[in-house]
Amino acid sequence: MSFVAGWALLVLACTAAAEDLLIKGGTVVNADRQFQADVLIRDGLILRVEPDLQAERPGTRQLDARGMLVMPGGIDPHTHLAMPFMGQVACDDFYSQNLLLAACLSRSGHAAALAGGTTMHIDFVLPVAHDLLAGWAEWQRKAEAAVMDYGFHMAVTSWSKQVAADMQVIASRGVNSFKFFMAYKGALMVTDEQLLAGLRRCRQLGALAQVHAENGDAVAEGQARVFEAGVTGPEGHALSRPAALEGEATGRAIRLAEFAGAPLYVVHVMSRDAVEEVARARQRGVRVIGETVVSAISQEEGRLWDPDWDVAAQYVMSPPIRSREHAAALRAALAGGALQLVGTDHAVFNSTQKRVGRHDFRLIPNGVNGLEERMHVVWQELVNSGQLSPSDFVRVTSTAAAQIFNIYPRKGVIAPGSDADVILFDPLLEHSIAAATHHSAMDTNIYEGYRVQGKVVSTISRGQLVWHNGKLNITRGTGRFIPTPTFGPLFEGLDKRPEHLVDVARYGGVPVQRGSIEGKVE
Ligand code: URP
Ligand code: ZN
Ligand code: ZN
Ligand code: ZN
Repeated sequence: MSFVAGWALLVLACTAAAEDLLIKGGTVVNADRQFQADVLIRDGLILRVEPDLQAERPGTRQLDARGMLVMPGGIDPHTHLAMPFMGQVACDDFYSQNLLLAACLSRSGHAAALAGGTTMHIDFVLPVAHDLLAGWAEWQRKAEAAVMDYGFHMAVTSWSKQVAADMQVIASRGVNSFKFFMAYKGALMVTDEQLLAGLRRCRQLGALAQVHAENGDAVAEGQARVFEAGVTGPEGHALSRPAALEGEATGRAIRLAEFAGAPLYVVHVMSRDAVEEVARARQRGVRVIGETVVSAISQEEGRLWDPDWDVAAQYVMSPPIRSREHAAALRAALAGGALQLVGTDHAVFNSTQKRVGRHDFRLIPNGVNGLEERMHVVWQELVNSGQLSPSDFVRVTSTAAAQIFNIYPRKGVIAPGSDADVILFDPLLEHSIAAATHHSAMDTNIYEGYRVQGKVVSTISRGQLVWHNGKLNITRGTGRFIPTPTFGPLFEGLDKRPEHLVDVARYGGVPVQRGSIEGKVE
């Protein structure tokens, strides 16, 4: 064989298309409608969505979807994989850095996500010593072993000319969202002045400003008071940071965003107080997005009073999981449209890590699981209860995130040309959640024993069948970074609005001419 022919063969072999996948007989559910159709997948993309499709190539793998819903894979807009936080590192990484563990246990953030029907997540890059670019480098390394698609948000934890300049660099690398913490005093928290500067910068860059909304000063004071009163256990977490502090910060962030003319995304809305602020702002035309998380709509604060310290500590996250009444208000807000999407805030610390705070609840690393459970628990809480239709389910678990972060229709819809991120969901199959069978590296699960009717039977990620009938089939390092472009839909037409509420042109825009002021001056 000639060199050229040999080379051509080699290229052919390397670029040889993977087998087609044909999903037959299911009900396709998109955010706008559901309909009977087959789905043909080729080379990682959806090729056709039509009734009665036939295989077009030999070797096509066929999946029987009769009785099943065929939906876009979930997009989790809020995760913290391998995050260094409160002296610990979250124990779910992208995909285990430990080759041996990865091979034999398949326990990691990405394994959990895919087994639960989520095919993309957006993780928060934390700066290293306030340095955004150093944080970026750190997260590049974490994501090397990724097995599914991911995007990044960038946290901003200080303010300077350098930070403002680095935000532009990060945006040019494919990040269209920056998060500001209004809590975690002495660590990640920014002042109002810094937040305001960040909001203005976000508007300039066409990036979405995100806030963790709690009054950090008041939280610190509340924590000290609760601890000094002798409450040292996990219940102190709920007692020290009431919903009013979340409502206050949410309202403040929204008004500062209005003042700066910047769209705003409130992450992990956990209380009625906060959701009311979001709803009121949307009613007056503010461009604000409200994200809640699956723990907020399904769990209740009583767990923090569990007599078993290890159980109680699992439920420590911020803002705290609140009473049933708050959870009901959040579910209603998702159904009514005041909240737009559900994430997880997946930030997991195993029991030995949580025990760092055994003498002082203020030291318990904050965070709960949800990456594997989100799709099932949202289905159970909202669809099986009749509050959301299957199309609404797709919207709050996938489509809304794709639209808000400007990657629609590449993601978030089953349509020709979109990425082949698809789940097959059997609405009749019952199962229950347990740490013994989950795919996270956690040794506990806040949903232990939770029963669900409906199950993700298959997950297809970029055309690969990665989860099927209870088995994962994933390849280390195959995940891709999905850039999120700036100036997304929330910026559409924004230039027609005033840049900020300071209106120097009011009443003619000329300084009032007044005579000099006579008389005594102190
Ligand atoms: O408790 C939480 N939410 N841990 C993760 C960090 C954050 O605030 O999102
Ligand atoms: Zn947060
Ligand atoms: Zn978070
Ligand atoms: Zn200006």
